Order: sequence, then C-alpha cells, then structure tokens
Amino acid sequence: MTKPFSPEQHPGLRPLPQIISNPHFDTIGGEVQIRSLVERFYFFMDTLPEAVGIRALHEADLSHTKEVLVKFLIEWLGGPKVYSAERGHPRLRQKHLTFPIGVAERDAWMQCMRSAMDEVVVDVTLRQQLDQAFFKTADFIRNDNKE
Ligand code: HEM
Repeated sequence: MTKPFSPEQHPGLRPLPQIISNPHFDTIGGEVQIRSLVERFYFFMDTLPEAVGIRALHEADLSHTKEVLVKFLIEWLGGPKVYSAERGHPRLRQKHLTFPIGVAERDAWMQCMRSAMDEVVVDVTLRQQLDQAFFKTADFIRNDNKE
C-alpha cells in the first residue's frame, strides 16, 4: 500500500511557493479587462481627431500591435510574463525612437488611454495610479527634447 506523503520524511521537498499575483492585475480584472482596455484605447486612437497624427505612425492593421500591447500590459500589471518571454526587455524608449514623439503626441496618446480607462478601469484608485504611471512612461518616451 502506498504510504501517504509526509513532508517530514522528505526534507528536500519544500512546499510550493504561494502564487502571489500582483494586486493591480487582479484589481483591473485580469486579462479580460486588459483586452477591453486595449480595444477601447485603439478605438479612440482610430476616432479622436486629436489622435490622427499618432494613428498615422501605426500600422494600418492594428491586430498585431493590439496583441503586443495586451501582452505588455498584462506583464506590466503583474500578470504572466509572456511579453518578455517573446520579445525580451521592453526597452520602450529605444523602441519608440523611430517615431517622432513630442508633447502633442504624448498628450494625444494619454487622451486615448484616459478615455479607455474611464470606461474600463472601475477602481478609482487604480485608475489614478495608472494615469500617473502611463504619463510618466509616455513622457519618458518623448524624444523631441522640447519642453
Ligand atoms: C507617447 C506617445 C506614444 C506614441 C506616439 C506611441 C507609438 C507607438 C507606435 C507607432 C508603435 C509601433 C506600433 C505599430 O507599428 O503598429 C508603438 C509600439 C509600442 N508601444 Fe507605444 N507609443 C506611445 C507611448 C507608449 C506608452 C506610454 C506605452 C506603455 C505604457 C507604449 C507601449 C508600446 C508597446 C509595448 C509597443 C510594442 C513594442 C514592441 O514591439 O515590443 N507606448 N508605440
């Protein structure tokens, strides 16, 4: 008869580490909500007159871009690390150097993201935290060196 497993008799076997998920990923509602956020973000980029300029920097077909941003945001918010497994370190500033990004582009990007967050991110505290974090990143990505 197989004896029941007794951890004391197997000192080399440690209990599995608890899976601690990042609270942001849970608070936003996981992958489903991140997908909605990205859908709405590109909807606004496609339709807001202020976003015409940054929309033109993107591929005509946004399906690949959407998928990459979904994976990036999942990882950024503490979910599974699929983005870096597939694409390596984000190096966002470097990856955006090929696009002219100044204050107007940063603000247009933020306008699309804020409109999407207003619809999708229900938790007010998280929405404010994300707003700050997105702004910091968007400003860091700016490459025109103008005030
Ligand atoms: C500041 C204004 C921004 C502009 C104008 C901009 C524009 C772009 C463009 C044109 C692409 C290429 C996509 C394509 O070819 O279809 C791209 C890729 C990307 N952007 Fe931005 N972006 C901005 C800010 C941001 C911010 C704030 C984030 C993250 C918080 C971000 C995350 C990404 C990611 C993850 C990719 C894909 C990178 C990869 O290839 O792995 N972008 N962006």
